[in-house]
Amino acid sequence: MALEKVSNILQEAEKRNTSAIAFDAFDYQTIYSCIMGAEAVKKPVILMLYPTMDSLITPRIFAETVKDLAKKVSVPVGLHLDHCSNYEYILSAIREGFTSVMADGSTLPFEQNVAFTKEVVRAATVFGVDVEGELGHVGSAGNESDFCNENSYTTPEDAAAFADATGVASLAVAIGSAHGHYVKEPKLDIERLREINEATKTPLVLHGGSGIPQEQLVAAFKNGINKFNVGTEYFILNAKLQKDFFGSEEADKSPFGVVPFVRKNLQSYIEKKLELSVWS
Ligand code: 13P
Repeated sequence: MALEKVSNILQEAEKRNTSAIAFDAFDYQTIYSCIMGAEAVKKPVILMLYPTMDSLITPRIFAETVKDLAKKVSVPVGLHLDHCSNYEYILSAIREGFTSVMADGSTLPFEQNVAFTKEVVRAATVFGVDVEGELGHVGSAGNESDFCNENSYTTPEDAAAFADATGVASLAVAIGSAHGHYVKEPKLDIERLREINEATKTPLVLHGGSGIPQEQLVAAFKNGINKFNVGTEYFILNAKLQKDFFGSEEADKSPFGVVPFVRKNLQSYIEKKLELSVWS
């Protein structure tokens, strides 16, 4: 298939009262394993690039790789630029082929976040590109206060006002998750999520997906999350697989053996993770 618009994938998720899963990736193997894992279990998948990883893979090569592999499978594949707070960078990613972008103004005061996000939506709309905004800052899982402090969580009123004012296609919310390794087990505020979901029709996004207990994810997906972002877990697994392979005798048998070994195991992880996304 050709690439699918992320907004279409999220609308389908919303109809099914579930979430699509979006994975950060940074090279051919991590992109390939995501797309082939999704094909194996017949579920949509979204591939995301962190701008900070553009020294590992350029936005153009990332976009072209996702597009090329999407053509080889039958499931919908979305392409998204993850966290970006730089207007020019977002436009350059659109030029390089990204069909969905995140305008991350979450560290700005509300009015400035609205103004920045609105400006990105205005430009992206010209190219038919979807925009994800963020309201209430999703910080670092290494700082307990970043995910346990309810003062930084999204409120239903602000979410509704932000979605209306900006016209974003999706909205990332702060309800108790954070990026990276959690210093203590997170506890998502599902009641708040339910209220945000009632207050706005915009599909909601949950960031900081690595390390959230499964039962909380099931509850989040049933209460309004339509896009779920995972990065750290996938990167760490990839590094561990490389280490395992090169520490084994298999590494001496062929200079290419690492590729099928890593792909197979990354793909199994993706297939398992996608079980959370109830698509039938
Ligand atoms: P983790 O790296 O914590 O899984 O979060 C990923 C994410 O939210 C990317 O936007």
